[in-house]
Amino acid sequence: MDSIKSYLEEHKDRFVDELKELLKIPSISADANYKDDMLKAAEAVKQSLLDAGCDTAEVAPTPGHPVVYAEKIINKDLPTVLVYGHYDVQPPDPLDLWNSPPFEPVVQKTDIHPEGAIFARGACDDKGQMYMHVKAMEYMTKNDELPCNVKFMIEGEEEVGSEHLDWFIKENKEKLQNDVILISDTGMISKDTPSITTGLRGLSYVEVEVTGANRDLHSGLYGGAVANPLNVLSEMISKLTDDNNHISIPGFYDNVENLSDEERSKMAEAPFSIEEYKEKLDIRDVHGEEGYSTLERGSIRPTLDVNGMWGGYIGEGAKTVLPSKAYAKISMRLVPNQDHKEITELFTKHFESLAPDSVRVKVKPHHGGYPYVTPIDTIGYQAASAAYEETFGKTPIPQRSGGSIPIVSLFEKELDSKIILMGFGLDTDAIHSPNEHFGIWNYLKGIETIPWFYKHFTETSKK
Ligand code: BES
Ligand code: MN
Ligand code: MN
Repeated sequence: MDSIKSYLEEHKDRFVDELKELLKIPSISADANYKDDMLKAAEAVKQSLLDAGCDTAEVAPTPGHPVVYAEKIINKDLPTVLVYGHYDVQPPDPLDLWNSPPFEPVVQKTDIHPEGAIFARGACDDKGQMYMHVKAMEYMTKNDELPCNVKFMIEGEEEVGSEHLDWFIKENKEKLQNDVILISDTGMISKDTPSITTGLRGLSYVEVEVTGANRDLHSGLYGGAVANPLNVLSEMISKLTDDNNHISIPGFYDNVENLSDEERSKMAEAPFSIEEYKEKLDIRDVHGEEGYSTLERGSIRPTLDVNGMWGGYIGEGAKTVLPSKAYAKISMRLVPNQDHKEITELFTKHFESLAPDSVRVKVKPHHGGYPYVTPIDTIGYQAASAAYEETFGKTPIPQRSGGSIPIVSLFEKELDSKIILMGFGLDTDAIHSPNEHFGIWNYLKGIETIPWFYKHFTETSKK
């Protein structure tokens, strides 16, 4: 396998150029105007998998955006790795905050990425990380280093809640059978501290609407006498958490798994500087639930956040008006063993109970997802850990992430296998933000590390 280094050296410019081509396609799943680009991106991924040596590849239609499925079966008696990733990206807004257009990828150096980073929407989440697997596959097939069977399932709806992947998996259960699921759609601690993601948070996402009078009113004639939905909504939101930043929805914490003191002190060993954290975000202080560290608040504890709030007059100048309606989008990140359906119900009941008679409220649930935690004593985790040791010269730290990939828990349930989250992004890569980027060093390190996973996984599976 030592030839991986020279293969990378020889082909790295092409690997970057090919990824740039894929990044030029604006595959924005949330926006119906980009339906054709979604298909174009799916076709491009399919072709890249065939070029990388897959025997078959298809763009499989779903009631939503298509799934790209490909495979190479070398021997039915050998283990099978299923690679999951997504070719859809988040909308690039706000456009004016990008230093270069989001779908015109450029390589630029940064302090953290002196080797250069590719700037484009999807560079890290997840086209760049997904494409590492395509290029690792190319290396393995071209150099006779593929030790087992491989299947790829690359979807186009991750950023909108994987609505139809559920259907696809249930339809194709046989075809998707595997011994381990490998995903690169998370991050690692830093370039010199590799880590493997062992947990993802779940998600409950709701939209609320508060209605006052049946029309907008003059704020002089009616102000003070009729409820203002924006004022009421703000008060209701402020009641969702208490002075200790604890969520006050009755029953919210009932099923939350509490970590043992031992697990918590193990977590605290991960390298983390609060000063650096504050400095990077330009904040004077952090914020969060009393009694927990910043790392804990962002991974093993549940949250409630307003993601957007609107209503009334937001145009230029002043307009004196009591709006008839006010809205907010609220997300709750969940941890084991919270059930997003139950939490959405608890939220709805509580939110309705907070409403005074002067307004009416509606709660509309959006997508949700279960949290996921993977054990580290499995063949899959151990193979991943050994792979990082080969390429980083260090044992990776197991770390739970605060993000969500809602479909992951369904993989385990439906396909009965463990999920390994080998992420190579950094928290500073600005995913979902303007100027998203992916370090070329990280991209190449990922391509280098993945074949080692296949090797170790196949060898230990045989024993
Ligand atoms: N790849 C991310 C999730 C992620 C990023 C997990 C970094 C861990 C570390 C994924 O594409 C994502 O953005 N998920 C969404 C949920 C989805 C339903 C929109 C999220 O976490 O907000
Ligand atoms: Mn992603
Ligand atoms: Mn994402």
